Amino acid sequence: MPLRPLLSEDRIQARIGEIGAQITADYAEGTLYLVCILKGACFFLADLARAIKRDAFIDFMAISSYGTERTSSGEVKITKDLDISLQDADVLIVEDIIDSGVTLHYLTNLLKTRKPKSVRIATLLDKPERRLRPVDVAYVGFQIPDEFVVGYGLDFAEKYRNLRDVCILDPDY
Ligand code: IMP
Ligand code: MG
Repeated sequence: MPLRPLLSEDRIQARIGEIGAQITADYAEGTLYLVCILKGACFFLADLARAIKRDAFIDFMAISSYGTERTSSGEVKITKDLDISLQDADVLIVEDIIDSGVTLHYLTNLLKTRKPKSVRIATLLDKPERRLRPVDVAYVGFQIPDEFVVGYGLDFAEKYRNLRDVCILDPDY
C-alpha cells in the first residue's frame, strides 16, 4: 500500500470543531467571508463553515502553483476568481496546506488590495519546515512533518482527494 495514515477522520473533525469555536469567538460581529482555495480545501471549508456558529459567506478561488508535481513551481496563477467584493469584509482564507508559502504569500497580498477590513488564514495543515516565503497563519489544524500527504481534499495528480483520513504518500510510489 502506498498510503500510511497520518490523521484520522475523527481527529480531523475534532480539531475542526475547536477551530470553528475559536473563529466564532474571534469574529463577534461584522461580515465574515470564507474564501476557499480550490480544489484541495473544499472538504475543510464544508466542515469548518458548519463549525462556525455565526453567519459566514462562502466563495471560491482557484489557483495553480503546483501542477502534478510534488514540489512547488514558484509560479502562482489565478484560474478562477471570486464572484463577490471583499470591501469592508473580514476575510478568512481557507486553505488545505501551507508548504513553501508561495501561494498564500501571493494571495494574501492580492486580497488585501481589494479593501477588506481584515485578511486572515485558516489552514488545515502546515509544513513549517518547508517555508520559503513568510506567511502569517491565524488558525492551523495540524503542523505536520515534511512528508507528502493526500486525502481529505489533498491530491497527488488529482487522486486520493476523497479519502476520509489524511495519509502519507510513499515517496517511491
Ligand atoms: P505552497 O505555495 O508551496 O505553500 O503550496 C501550497 C499548495 O501546494 C497547497 O495548496 C497544495 O495544493 C499543494 N501541496 C503542498 N504540499 C502538499 C502535500 O503534501 N500534498 C498535497 N498537496 C500539497
Ligand atoms: Mg491547495
